Amino acid sequence: IPALASISRSSGVLLGVAASSGKLNDTDYKKLLVRHFSSVTPEAECKIKELTPQGPDHYVWDKCDAVYRYAVENGKYFRLHTLLWWDHLPDWLDKGSFSPRKLRAWTVGHIEKVMARYPDAYAVDVINEGVADEFPGGVTASLDGVRRGNKWFPLIPDYLELAFKTARRVNPTAKLIYNDYNIASMYGWMREKSNAVYLLLRDMKSRGVPIDGVGIQMHFCLSAFDEPGTFEGIAYNFQRLGQLGLEVHITELEFNCSPYGDPCPRWNRASLDKQAALYRQVTRLCLDYSHICTMMSTWGASDRFSWRGPEQHALLFDEEFRPKPAFFALAEEFARP
Ligand code: G3I
Repeated sequence: IPALASISRSSGVLLGVAASSGKLNDTDYKKLLVRHFSSVTPEAECKIKELTPQGPDHYVWDKCDAVYRYAVENGKYFRLHTLLWWDHLPDWLDKGSFSPRKLRAWTVGHIEKVMARYPDAYAVDVINEGVADEFPGGVTASLDGVRRGNKWFPLIPDYLELAFKTARRVNPTAKLIYNDYNIASMYGWMREKSNAVYLLLRDMKSRGVPIDGVGIQMHFCLSAFDEPGTFEGIAYNFQRLGQLGLEVHITELEFNCSPYGDPCPRWNRASLDKQAALYRQVTRLCLDYSHICTMMSTWGASDRFSWRGPEQHALLFDEEFRPKPAFFALAEEFARP
């Protein structure tokens, strides 16, 4: 089967994958990653919960180091995910009560330590999912309600720019990314949150915050673009983000059988073909806008290791690591001039 990593290399779009350290020990799986993907994102290992499970000053680096080592030893780009996320926090932080000063000091120190340890990171998801999901008062340019209530906000009202400025101070060249979900299209079901993130990023860029791009996760199911205009709204969104001087990274692409939390009602040849068409559409869009959409990563390579479980059939390779129609769709799109 064609090697996606070499087919995509000259396309202008970097093709990546999420992987976790434990699965990198599986030699067949590792061969798949080396052959088909040029970038790797640690699926969980480099988050606060995995790095400091027991307490604020006790770092456990081995699993995050393992993914970084895989990247360095195999000539892959390393996408460091993620410095600050409101979810999956260790108890000492989640349940801890901190003064703003102490939390600020720890947060700056955390970012300094992680950024300094992985100097070859190509891109860093500095903030993951920092914007609310609902906007009862509507999305307003005042940005009220746009930020998600979490451990840092409103305790540290400027935590977003503090994070980006600290990351830039340690690493002058890594691409500093704001990463979020349900923000791909200006139209349809993603409209409000896409607009909220656009307003937030426009505000930050206008204030000179060192932010280079936006990570659009794209955890989709097969019906994601069924509402007319939804897919077209992604291209318009890419354009307006590009006009802010931002790159777009598709960071966690997958097309699951059913929406998050719903069981898969059926999976047949028609499902596989629809999935391939959707992967093709997104890949073609990123390639057509490669001056803005500089990379795309799938959130895993094989259904066997998908975070949604193999029964969601979300990825390019099936449970036995065999390529699915979606894989060949990507190979064709990347191979086109
Ligand atoms: O490493 C421990 C292991 O020692 C332990 O035995 C095992 C059982 O408790 O847990 C293992 O940690 C798990 C970790 O994945 C590594 O496999 C955590 O429990 C589990 O919560 C964690 O889930 C990850 C989740 O983020 C939280 O970090 C998923 O694999 C990962 O797919 C998911 O990814 C997120 C992105 O970061 C942000 N966007 C949404 C996406 C899906 O939720």
